[in-house]
Amino acid sequence: MQQKIIITIDGWSSCGKSTLAKQLARELGYLYIDSGAMYRAITLYFLRNHVDWTHLDAVHEALQHIKLTFMSNHKTGQSEMYLNGENVEYVIRDLVVAEKVSEVAAIREVREFAVKQQQDMGKNKGIVMDGRDIGTVVFPHAELKIFMTADNDIRVKRRFQELYEKNPNVTMEEVRANLEMRDYIDSHREVSPLRKADDALELDNSHVTMKEQLDIAKKWVQERLTQNA
Ligand code: DC
Repeated sequence: MQQKIIITIDGWSSCGKSTLAKQLARELGYLYIDSGAMYRAITLYFLRNHVDWTHLDAVHEALQHIKLTFMSNHKTGQSEMYLNGENVEYVIRDLVVAEKVSEVAAIREVREFAVKQQQDMGKNKGIVMDGRDIGTVVFPHAELKIFMTADNDIRVKRRFQELYEKNPNVTMEEVRANLEMRDYIDSHREVSPLRKADDALELDNSHVTMKEQLDIAKKWVQERLTQNA
């Protein structure tokens, strides 16, 4: 049987990490984990329960009541985020959550809580995980690390289209402001800031098709599998 590896995909908000991660996981028969969904689900819990996350005691207490699970949707075959048994895959994409998630994801205790579960999910390898710190902190020894980038305007347009389908009241300017704010907080926070791992391969997908980006990544996977054989 062919050996399995860990593939990490990090990068800026809305530059197509999850699209590539899903494609790769499907092609390889690997597990796909959207680590951002976990931070979004925690944020949703905090918002719904009026948790004051500026107080560590409140964060500690709240985390004890949060159970995060991924379950596959039988119809689409995609893995979806569950918060305490409730499917929150759709609601965590809302701008209300997006506006607060970077603040919540910057809290050390929240990160420790999420990272531990992410590392457990990778114990048997055969996993593609996307996020901000996956190649640097969660799986520093991953066999293949990809760092994705794309032009700012292209990222804003992509995210706008995605959100507009769900909510036609959203504006391009709101989306731009949210992306810029998240990128700033994600890359300047004290704990595990977004950065490219020294051994990550960079993929700028501003001007490549989905098929082309998948082909590039598959070539890298093949190289890694050959090196490790
Ligand atoms: O990938 P995303 O946009 O769904 O991520 C939501 C937020 O979660 C993002 O602003 C930063 C944070 N995040 C993080 O800090 N670390 C990760 N591994 C994944 C996401």
